[in-house]
Amino acid sequence: MDQKNVRVMAPATVSNLSCGFDVIGLALGEPYDILELELTGSGTVEIAEIRGCSTLSRDPRKNVVGAVLRAIAERADNGTGFRVVLEKGIRPGSGIGSSGASAAAAAFAANELLEGIFTPHEMILFAMEGERLASGAAHADNVAPALLGGITLVRSYEPLDIVQLHVPDELWCVVIHPDTEIKTSVARGILDKHIPLDTAVKQWGNLAGLVAGLYSEDYDLIGRSLADFVAEPKRAGLISGFHELRAAALASGALGAGISGSGPSVFALCRGAESAAEVKLGMSEAMRSGGIAFDAYMSPVSPAGARLI
Ligand code: HSE
Repeated sequence: MDQKNVRVMAPATVSNLSCGFDVIGLALGEPYDILELELTGSGTVEIAEIRGCSTLSRDPRKNVVGAVLRAIAERADNGTGFRVVLEKGIRPGSGIGSSGASAAAAAFAANELLEGIFTPHEMILFAMEGERLASGAAHADNVAPALLGGITLVRSYEPLDIVQLHVPDELWCVVIHPDTEIKTSVARGILDKHIPLDTAVKQWGNLAGLVAGLYSEDYDLIGRSLADFVAEPKRAGLISGFHELRAAALASGALGAGISGSGPSVFALCRGAESAAEVKLGMSEAMRSGGIAFDAYMSPVSPAGARLI
């Protein structure tokens, strides 16, 4: 087997968007992970180096990239092997799809080296194996936008049915990432396994409202739909100053705001670059008064997901 190399990136993502627990997510412009992959013919997966993060295991059985590549190698011809160098631009436990970006980058890179034998649908299924390892649940709301870009909906998990949604031109996203870590498995563990019917009614009304707002480019409807009656009430307590941060986003003109994925990052959706800059400023000021170090990002929804660089 000839040796070949690719270098790819996959973006951070905001999943849930308040009302769509485990089913909706969007791709950000930054930050992102970079992955260099070599096809080796060794029949094994070797994680040669991880840059930008000292806490991730290089054991392929304990690393999301390893989980994805092992699943792909098993499906491909005998002897397919990979050697990986991973550059983490997204901190693990940040709530902006760190494991999802690495998993998406691995699936995309492997498919490039294997001359595109897998469909996007199959790449998502492989990337979900990384999420299964990272959080105990093979959710697709980060890996789908990290692979495909834009805003994606998981219409169904069994069978997997991913729908790309319309993205209004002026939709921007601000993300504040406090310098703390929340393990997705922990944030999932505190959620109720059953929800009352009246809670479900409120939640699916908002999810439908969000999708309708995206298609009709009705920014007010998008904003009103960013409410979470399922995960946020349980998870808000894990994020110091969450309510103040959300209030600062709304006071600065955000359409709406909530927990990004399982937190601790907090996202806000905004109409246009100017509004996003004001929201980023307002949220940053609220963070400074809370005294916790943080990173702040703003970008339009990225139309591109994983790609060659
Ligand atoms: N939908 C998942 C959750 C995203 O909220 O647990 C985790 O990043």
